[in-house]
Amino acid sequence: MNTFGKRLKLSTAIFALSVGAVQAADVEVLHWWTSGGEAAALNVLKQDLESQDIGWQDMPVAGGGGEQAMTVLRARVTAGDAPTAVQMLGFDILDWGNQGALANLNDVAAQEGWDAVVPDALKAFAKVDGKWVSAPVNVHSTNWVWANKSVLDANGIAVPKTWDEFVAAVEKLNAAGVTPIAHGGQAWQDATVFDAVAMSTGGPEFYKAAFIDLDEEALGSDTMKEAFDRMSFIRANVDDNFSGRDWNLATAMVINGEAGFQMMGDWAKGEFLNAGKVPGEDFLCFRFPDTANQVTFNADQFAMFDQGGVVSAEQAALASAILSPSFQSAFNVVKGSVPARTDVSDEAFDACGKAGMKDLAAAAASNNLFGSMAHGHANPASVKNAIYDVVTAHFNGEYDSATAVEELVDAVSIAQ
Ligand code: GAL
Repeated sequence: MNTFGKRLKLSTAIFALSVGAVQAADVEVLHWWTSGGEAAALNVLKQDLESQDIGWQDMPVAGGGGEQAMTVLRARVTAGDAPTAVQMLGFDILDWGNQGALANLNDVAAQEGWDAVVPDALKAFAKVDGKWVSAPVNVHSTNWVWANKSVLDANGIAVPKTWDEFVAAVEKLNAAGVTPIAHGGQAWQDATVFDAVAMSTGGPEFYKAAFIDLDEEALGSDTMKEAFDRMSFIRANVDDNFSGRDWNLATAMVINGEAGFQMMGDWAKGEFLNAGKVPGEDFLCFRFPDTANQVTFNADQFAMFDQGGVVSAEQAALASAILSPSFQSAFNVVKGSVPARTDVSDEAFDACGKAGMKDLAAAAASNNLFGSMAHGHANPASVKNAIYDVVTAHFNGEYDSATAVEELVDAVSIAQ
C-alpha cells in the first residue's frame, strides 16, 4: 500500500473510533513464524485480535532467526511501505528505534504499567531514549538440548550434565547406528549451537567478554579454540544431509526417533507439542551440558512502525493484546518460550516451561543472564553476521580451529 493509501486507512480508523464505531483497521504483521509450532502460537495472537474485531494481514517471511524477514523489512521501509508491526529481535529494534522509524508506545505502556512488569533485560531492547518502541512477546533461550526419550532409554543414556558425559552419550548413539545430533546447516543454526558451546566451554565470564564486550583477548583465546574444537566434534556427529536443513526438520528427526539430540532454542518445544508429544514421556529438555546455571536469551518483540506521528488504533490494540497477562500465558505455553512479564503464573506451563521460567528468574538474580549472540541480543547485526560467517566456515571445514580463532578476531574488529 502506498503512503496515500495508508493515510486513508489511518484516517478511516480514526474516524471510525471518533464516531464510536469500534472498527479498527487490519494490522499487517511481518514475521518469520512459519513452522508448525510457530504458526500454532501465532494463531493464539490472531484469534485474540479477531475477538476484538481487528483483522490480521499476514506477511510471513520464512527463515529461522529472521534474517530473510529483516531483508524484506528493509526493502519495504525503503519503498515507503512499512508494515504496521514487525517481529524483531534485540539490536535490530534499537537500530530502527535510533533511526526514528518506530512509533512511541508510551501512552499504552503507561496506561498498562509495562515498566513495573517487564524486566530490565527486555526493557534494554524495547525502549529507546525513554520511549517504548516495541511490545515484548516472550523470552526464549538458546542453551537447551532436546532429546528423544525412547532413543536415550534404549541406549542406556542418562541426561548428560557435562560435556564429557555428552561426548560419551554421542559415542554410544554412534555405536548403535543412530544419528546422534540432528542439525540444520544454516548459519544462524550453527551460531545457535555456538552460543551454548561457548558458554559451556568458557563459562559466563568468557561468554560475556567474547560476545558482549567483544574483548579481543577472549575472542582470540585458547578457550575460543577449544569451543571451535567442540564444534568440530558436533559436526562429526550430524548426518550427511544436514546442509541447508531447516531447524524444524531437524527437530522432526528427534521427534521421530531418527536422531538422539538437537541443540536448539526452546522454540523447538513448539514442534514437539504440535506433534502431540509430551515432555518427560516422549521427549526431554535440559540445559546444554555445563550451562545449568546460565541462560542465553532472546526475546521476540513486535516493533511498531511510525505511521505518521501517531500510534494507530490497531497498533495500540496489538501492543495491549501482546502484553496482557492471559495472552502472555496462552501464547508462550504453545510457543515454547516463557512470558515477557514477571507476574505471570507458571501454572499453565509444562515441565520444560516451568523450568524455563525458574531458570530465567534465577539467572537474572545471579547475573547469569546474557543476550544470545546468535539471536541478535549480544551485539549489532554487523558484528553478529561477522561471527556467523566464521562459525559457519569453520563448521563446514573451511578453517581449522586455530584459523577460525584468528578469523574471528579479524572479522569482529572489521565489523565494529
Ligand atoms: C528466533 C525467534 C524464535 C523462533 C526462531 C526460529 O530468532 O526468536 O521465536 O521463531 O527464531 O524461527
